[in-house]
Amino acid sequence: MMISESGHFKVKKERDTKILEEKKQTPHWSHFSLQKQVMLQDTSNTSRSQERVQRGWWSAVPLEPTRLAVSLCPTPLMRAKSIAACVLVTVLGAASPAHGFLLGALAPRHSARGLRGGAVALDMQVRRVLVTGANKGIGLATAEKLLCDFPDCHVLLGARSAARGEAAVRDLLAKHPSAAGRVDLLELDVSSDESVSRAADKVAATFGTEPAPLWGIINNAGIGFGYSLSETLATNSYGPHRVTAAMLPLIEPKGGRIVNIASASGPMFVSRVSGEWRRVFTDEDVSWAEIEKTMQEALNGAFEGDPYGFSKACLNAYTRWLAKQHPNLVVNSCSPGWINTDLTKGMGASNPPSKGAPVPADLVMGEPKGPGFYFGSDGVRSPLDCYRGPGDPPYLGD
Ligand SMILES: NC(=O)c1ccc[n+]([C@@H]2O[C@H](COP(=O)([O-])OP(=O)(O)OC[C@H]3O[C@@H](n4cnc5c(N)ncnc54)[C@H](OP(=O)(O)O)[C@@H]3O)[C@@H](O)[C@H]2O)c1
Repeated sequence: MMISESGHFKVKKERDTKILEEKKQTPHWSHFSLQKQVMLQDTSNTSRSQERVQRGWWSAVPLEPTRLAVSLCPTPLMRAKSIAACVLVTVLGAASPAHGFLLGALAPRHSARGLRGGAVALDMQVRRVLVTGANKGIGLATAEKLLCDFPDCHVLLGARSAARGEAAVRDLLAKHPSAAGRVDLLELDVSSDESVSRAADKVAATFGTEPAPLWGIINNAGIGFGYSLSETLATNSYGPHRVTAAMLPLIEPKGGRIVNIASASGPMFVSRVSGEWRRVFTDEDVSWAEIEKTMQEALNGAFEGDPYGFSKACLNAYTRWLAKQHPNLVVNSCSPGWINTDLTKGMGASNPPSKGAPVPADLVMGEPKGPGFYFGSDGVRSPLDCYRGPGDPPYLGD
């Protein structure tokens, strides 16, 4: 797998072309074609169409693409023109981006870009990604990378503290005005069933359930060293399981993504265990029941050592199991690398959080191999039972 850093503009261009081509073939995309969207709402969702009648014709302007169009325009003037284009195309009943391009071409030169932006965005699919624990560290850096590198990406910035999450969203928008309309706070504590279920309800209520509102999840929230085994498992292993179970019905069923942020500590932990636990951590056909049994055995006292590494070994095993359960999704895990964050404070890590973002971002937005693989911080497949460093030969499987 290629992690595109220097050449990401080229990759983005290729991807955008591919997206537009796929859009023409995939029924799912048609939800975002204006004419079909209006038609779908009229025939299959009476309450929505009634609501529109009550609210007036302007509610037929598709809000999501309009927000996207606005966010793509760098100046207030262009934003205004972009909104005007969306309204104009709607009013004229235009059915395809071609109409938008035509409008753009006919418009005076200085307003063409805004019009085109609006019209193209009208037909563009939004890929909405939830990143948990994204108010700081690697999660925040990943959210930033997604917003900057993928104009079709809408980030739900997960945070257990509303205040810390709001501050993160505010800082992101101050730094990247082009992210306006594409980042929202989602309050969620991954260790709480109630909080996670409330968050899933909020996603469904805000964005609807058809088409699926989420393109993917990055299960990033985690705690590091110095916590008890039960605290560590509740966040690092049960947390992703809890969030994924609640959000699964909301994830795009054809090719949606789940990325679990594991750690090199996982394989390092497995390299030191033997017997049944080693089998559970390395068996392709491991079941969730076996993983849970292992966690319960550890919690019941059969455990000495590093809770963090154990929790990430469990997360990798869970990733494998989850991938088998959902062959139509792309489920993988990765190590973000050795990154200087609050989690590693004072431990000698010197890489800034931005260095931890490319692999998770690529796994959620690119075309990774897998599913069910664990990738090292260089984006290369790595084994589950021993450490593979950046630059070492790829793991080819058993
Ligand atoms: N840093 C590294 O070198 C490294 C290496 C390998 C793997 N990782 C993994 O990368 C992920 C991010 O770590 P980081 O280094 O960026 O650490 P960090 O700066 O401490 O960030 C951790 C994030 O997780 C959030 N969080 C913790 N418990 C949570 C919960 N119960 N519910 C919701 N959010 C919760 C934190 O929120 P609060 O601000 O509210 O605490 C924070 O936003 C973790 O899964 C970690 O294990 C990191």
